[in-house]
Amino acid sequence: MSAIEIHGLRKSFGDLEVLRGIDLSVEPGEVLCVIGPSGSGKSTLLRCVNLLEQPSAGTIRVSGVEVTDPDCDIDAVRRRIGMVFQQFNLFGHLTVRENLTIAQRRVLRRGRAEADRVAAENLDRVGLADKAGAYPAQLSGGQQQRVAIARSLSMNPELMLFDEPTSALDPELVGEVLAVMRSLVADGMTMLVVTHEMSFAREVASRVVFMDGGVVVESGPPADVLGSPREERTREFLHRVLEPTRVSTAEL
Ligand SMILES: Nc1ncnc2c1ncn2[C@@H]1O[C@H](COP(=O)(O)OP(=O)(O)O)[C@@H](O)[C@H]1O
Ligand SMILES: [Mg+2]
Repeated sequence: MSAIEIHGLRKSFGDLEVLRGIDLSVEPGEVLCVIGPSGSGKSTLLRCVNLLEQPSAGTIRVSGVEVTDPDCDIDAVRRRIGMVFQQFNLFGHLTVRENLTIAQRRVLRRGRAEADRVAAENLDRVGLADKAGAYPAQLSGGQQQRVAIARSLSMNPELMLFDEPTSALDPELVGEVLAVMRSLVADGMTMLVVTHEMSFAREVASRVVFMDGGVVVESGPPADVLGSPREERTREFLHRVLEPTRVSTAEL
C-alpha cells in the first residue's frame, strides 16, 4: 500500500486553477522531492495531503485511507502526518520543551513524564538537548527549524511533509537543518519534500518531481530529472536555480 496516493487532484481558488490534475504516489520509505518555480502549486499540493486545503476534485489516500472521502476522520489521519513549514510556526510564548509536549499531551493524551521523555529524546536527536528551557526567540533560525522537526517527530508520524524547510534561513544555517533531514532519510522515514536545495534532492531523493503551472511536468530518478531533464521547462528552471545571478535583462 502506498503511503500517499493522489489521483486527478485539482484545486482552484476562485477562478484561479492552481492544481490541474496531479497524479502522484509515495511509497513507504521513499523520499520524494518536489521542485518547481514559485506559484506552481507545490505548497497547495502538500496542504491538500492533510486537507489544510480542500481539493476541488480528485482523490487522495494516506496509507489507504481516503482523506477526500467526506466521512474520513481527518484528525486521525493528521495525527500520522508531520508537517514542517518554511516559517517554523513555533509558539513564541512557550519554551522549546513545551512546544514539543503540548500536542503530545492534548492530542495523544500522554502524561507529563512521558511527553517530557519523548521531547528530550527528539531534542537530542536534532542536536538541541541543551535548549529545552529556551524560548524560540533565543534560538537561531536553524535551531528553531530543528525544534520544529523535533516537535513533529514527537508525535511519531508515519510520514513527513516538508515545505521549503530551509528557504527562510541564512545560508550558513541551511546545512544543520539538511543534516537532520538526512538523518531522517537514513532512518527510513517516508518524506514528501518541497525544496530548492538541488544538491540535497540529488543526494537523498528516491524520485524528483518537477511541477510547473499546476501540473507534473516530469518525474523520475534525481540523476535523470536534475542531471539530464527531458523537458525544456525543467531545463530552464534548473538553469535559473543553479545560476541565479545570470539572468539577462532580456528575460526581465
Ligand atoms: N489561499 C489561497 N487563496 C488564493 N490563492 C492562493 C491561495 N493559496 C495559494 N494561492 C495561489 O495559488 C498559486 C500557487 O501557490 P502555491 O501552492 O503557494 O505555490 P508554490 O508553493 O509552488 O509557490 C499562487 O498563484 C498563489 O497565489
Ligand atoms: Mg510554496
